Amino acid sequence: MEASSRGFAKMCLAICVLTMAAGLVSAADKEIIVKTVKGEKVCAQGWECKGFSKFCCNQTISDIFQTYQFENLFSKRNSPVANAVGFWDYRSFILAASLYEHLGFGTTGGQTMQMKEIAAFLGHVGCKTSCGYGVATGGPLAWGLCFNKEMSPSQKYCDENYKYEYPCAPGAEYYGRGALPIYWNYNYGAIGEGIKQDLLHHPEYVEQNATIAFQAAIYRWMTPVKKGQPSAHQVFVGDWKPTKNDTLAKRVPGFGATMNLLYGDYTCGQGDIDPMNNIISHYLYYLDLLGVGREQAGPHEVLSCAEQAPFNPTSKSSS
Ligand SMILES: *[C@@H]1O[C@H](CO)[C@@H](O)[C@H](O)[C@H]1NC(C)=O
Ligand SMILES: *[C@@H]1O[C@H](CO)[C@@H](O)[C@H](O)[C@H]1NC(C)=O
Ligand SMILES: *[C@@H]1O[C@H](CO)[C@@H](O)[C@H](O)[C@H]1NC(C)=O
Repeated sequence: MEASSRGFAKMCLAICVLTMAAGLVSAADKEIIVKTVKGEKVCAQGWECKGFSKFCCNQTISDIFQTYQFENLFSKRNSPVANAVGFWDYRSFILAASLYEHLGFGTTGGQTMQMKEIAAFLGHVGCKTSCGYGVATGGPLAWGLCFNKEMSPSQKYCDENYKYEYPCAPGAEYYGRGALPIYWNYNYGAIGEGIKQDLLHHPEYVEQNATIAFQAAIYRWMTPVKKGQPSAHQVFVGDWKPTKNDTLAKRVPGFGATMNLLYGDYTCGQGDIDPMNNIISHYLYYLDLLGVGREQAGPHEVLSCAEQAPFNPTSKSSS
């Protein structure tokens, strides 16, 4: 290829204009730089998809998911009765996402898969931060991102078994905070290492900074709990081949397996329970609102984890 003799070929697409609506970037910031490494096409796209990766050759999240869509999904979050008024915004989500797009977050597959992954991830988030109940105005699914922290923690969630690895900081409390709420010192410690923030000493960052809150949640989505296991991202986008054991345990790629990895037997392998159905309902609702349509979610056995044995059986996988 001619351009590869110079190391890379430059190319700017006119899609930049679209993202200006987000008020985040100027057109020049979204130019796509293409090069070929070992016969594979890899790209970088300005501030949003950094480094050279095959994923950065695709549309970025802000190309296909814009401010008005975020507002539609989380339409009640700034109602006077919501608990985190003014905290969550589109910009924080996109800034956090930009750290993971080169790894495939929201940039894998074609546009439909990309939209589905955004709906799936935000479906988890919406459900875990909802204050919507049966009679809430707009329906119970309109109340995602109502909370950014646990309201009346009954304890400090300090587990002394981790006093060497993740010792609790004096005065710090490790109650639930964030977009996929984090509980316990050891989870704050491990996730803090993952996102390079000292959350063990400063768990409050997660309730003070929406970018950090989203970043922690996306990190969990993208990262396997244990070596040798897939991440929620991988099982969702189909970048995971079940082993014989997985098949025996009825674990199949798809949305159900994301619940299995994130919540284990709190949610999965218990039949058709409400906590599981509630997460699925948020995902399907968001697929509809994003114009993808819930029929794209696939059959029940892929959507649900009712019959799946947990990847990580009890006790403290998360909550
Ligand atoms: C980029 O999108 C195309 C479809 O538009 C898809 O076929 C391809 O797999 C995507 N690339 C990656 C790395 O997922
Ligand atoms: C929130 O955290 C991000 C990421 O560390 C940082 O860039 C930003 O300045 C923080 N925002 C505020 C208001 O502190
Ligand atoms: C499969 O399951 C069996 C029985 O539970 C276990 O002994 C074996 O280590 C598992 N294999 C893998 C690869 O996880």
